[in-house]
Amino acid sequence: MKKCLKGLVVAVCLLLVGCSSQPTVSNQTPSSEGTKKVGVIQLTEHTSLNMIYDSFVAELENLGYKDKVVIDFKNAQNEMSNIPSIVQYFEANKQDVVVTITTPVAQGAMALTKNTPVVFAAVTDPIAAGVVKDLEKPEGNITGTSDMVQIDEIINLALTITPKIKTVGFIYNPSEVNSVTNYEKLKQVCEEKGLKIEATSISTSVDLQTATSALLPKVDVIFVPNDNTVAEAMPILANLAKDAKVPVYTGADSMVMDGGFATIGIDYVELGKKTAQMVVEVLEGKSISDIPVYVFKDDLYITINEDTMNALGIELPTSIKENQKLNLVK
Ligand code: TRP
Repeated sequence: MKKCLKGLVVAVCLLLVGCSSQPTVSNQTPSSEGTKKVGVIQLTEHTSLNMIYDSFVAELENLGYKDKVVIDFKNAQNEMSNIPSIVQYFEANKQDVVVTITTPVAQGAMALTKNTPVVFAAVTDPIAAGVVKDLEKPEGNITGTSDMVQIDEIINLALTITPKIKTVGFIYNPSEVNSVTNYEKLKQVCEEKGLKIEATSISTSVDLQTATSALLPKVDVIFVPNDNTVAEAMPILANLAKDAKVPVYTGADSMVMDGGFATIGIDYVELGKKTAQMVVEVLEGKSISDIPVYVFKDDLYITINEDTMNALGIELPTSIKENQKLNLVK
C-alpha cells in the first residue's frame, strides 16, 4: 500500500514538475495580480531533500495552488556561505513566505523573519537549532515540520536483525545541530543497551570515504543519523561498508534507498505535504504563532535495501519479514 501510494506521488510529481528540484516557474516571472511569491531554499541535493521538495510542490498543486503561487527555488549547494546571500536576495525580492529545507538553512533564514514568515521543513531539533523556543507556540514568525529520529527504535531494529553487535560506528558532521542531537541520544541508548560507540566526524562529504574506511575495521555496524553531509555522499559509504560486510543502519529511508541497509522512521513524502499545507495556511492569512511545529514521530515504517541485505548475507527474522510496515527497496 505504502509503495503504491509513493509510486502515485512520484508519478504525479513526474507529470507535474518533472520530479526535478528546479523552480516550477522562473524567478523572472513577475507575480501577477493575486499570485503569491513563495521562496524556497534547499541546502543541497540529496535523495531525501529532493523527495521533500517534490512532494511539497505536488501538494501545493493538489491544494489548487498551481496558478496561485510563483515558486522561486534556490539551492545553496551545501555551501553555508551561500545561505546569507540567498536570504538577502529573498529579503530584497519580498516573498509572501519563505520555505527552508534542512536545519542549517532554517537557522540562516532567521534573518528574514522580521519581515517574512518562514516555514521550515525537516528540522530535526528545532529547539536545539534555536529556531523556536516552544514547539506549540512559535514566537518568532517561523514554524514548520520536524523529522525527529527515533534512535531507540533504530537500535532495537539493529539488535533484532543483527543481535550479536557490540560496537556501533557513528559518522556525523558536528556543525549540523541535527546530528549533534542524534549523537547525544545515541549515547544514551547505547549505554542502556550495553553497546560501545566509535564516533568519527567529518566536515565535508569529501571526507566521508577516508572516515568510513578508517572506521569500518573497528565496528560491527555503522549508524548514520539524518546528517546532510553524510547523506550527500551516502553511496560511497554504502559501497565501502558492503565490501567490508558491515551493515549500515541509517536515520532516514533515503539513505537506505542510496545503498544503506536498514532503518525505521518517518515518511518524508508526508513531511513535504504537511509543509505545503502549512504554507497554504500562511498564504491564507493565518498567523505563524497559531501554527504549532509539526513533529513527525509516529507512524514509522521499516525500510530495508534488499540488494544490500543479499550482499551482506543477512536473513531477516520472521518478526521483521511479517511486519505490516515493511518497505523493501533495491
Ligand atoms: N533533518 C535534516 C536537518 O535537520 C534534514 C534531512 C531531511 C536529512 N531528510 C534527511 C538529512 C535525510 C539527511 C538525510 O537538517
